[in-house]
Amino acid sequence: MIYFTLIMKTVVITGCTKGIGEALAYRFARENYKVIGIARDEEKLKLLKEKLEAEFNIKFNYLVADLSKYEQVSKTIDFLSVNDFDVLINNAGFGLHGEFVELDIDAQIAMINLNVTALVRLTHFAINKFKKLGKHDATVINIGSTAGFMPGPYNAIYFATKAFVNSFSQAIHEELEGTGINVLCICPGLTKTNFFENAKWDINGQMMTSEEVADITYQSYVEKKVIVVTGFYNAFMISIIKRLPESWKRYLTKRLLK
Ligand SMILES: NC(=O)c1ccc[n+]([C@@H]2O[C@H](COP(=O)([O-])OP(=O)(O)OC[C@H]3O[C@@H](n4cnc5c(N)ncnc54)[C@H](OP(=O)(O)O)[C@@H]3O)[C@@H](O)[C@H]2O)c1
Repeated sequence: MIYFTLIMKTVVITGCTKGIGEALAYRFARENYKVIGIARDEEKLKLLKEKLEAEFNIKFNYLVADLSKYEQVSKTIDFLSVNDFDVLINNAGFGLHGEFVELDIDAQIAMINLNVTALVRLTHFAINKFKKLGKHDATVINIGSTAGFMPGPYNAIYFATKAFVNSFSQAIHEELEGTGINVLCICPGLTKTNFFENAKWDINGQMMTSEEVADITYQSYVEKKVIVVTGFYNAFMISIIKRLPESWKRYLTKRLLK
């Protein structure tokens, strides 16, 4: 008699209560993954747990944490040390629109803490955990941005944090060659979420949906890709932008972002 054992994998998603993170929670739950969600809004986490567990018959576990705070990232690492997982998605992030010197410096430091420091600490922890457990099919997915391919006047810190994510993720991917652990960087272009309202950034343009970004992320994860710009239009625009002289990039983004 042949017994089939269905081993469910687990994905950790930071910033799963809204936008791209919420769509990723649905996407992975649809593929029968257990989900561990991390965000600040406990009510939204509870609601998401009810919905995902009812709709997909999976287990949703969560932790309330503000990942812009160093000690709360430590608390998250403690929580994840006693919870097994196969995929970590560093998705939580925010932007702030305005002139660097005019924007509150503490808010901008909090952005670096969330978009960069928390992502680096969680990546470091996850890869060490995967190695220690001898996992040969584990992945870290970092949500970068098309913003990471150019400087962003009037969004200077946000664009710089995303340049860090795009570069860091690819470097770590190379260091892990042959281990079976993949690091994938997803670079969405404009995506319809609360991001722009939170960033106080009034912007118009062709936008993808969070669900489209989540589909591309899942597919890229399955195909073990390294860096992916979401959608043909964004990929085409970035391929042109990459060829421009730095002074043109600065001029264009300054006009677009002011
Ligand atoms: N939207 C776009 O056009 C776009 C384009 C490129 C890249 N991205 C990137 O995609 C990622 C998701 O953005 P989104 O557009 O989906 O934004 P969003 O709709 O504003 O969602 C952000 C998520 O992050 C969580 N979050 C925010 N601050 C947090 C903190 N301090 N600690 C823990 N969780 C926190 C929020 O949950 P709580 O409020 O419950 O904490 C929420 O679930 C970000 O990294 C962003 O930079 C977005």
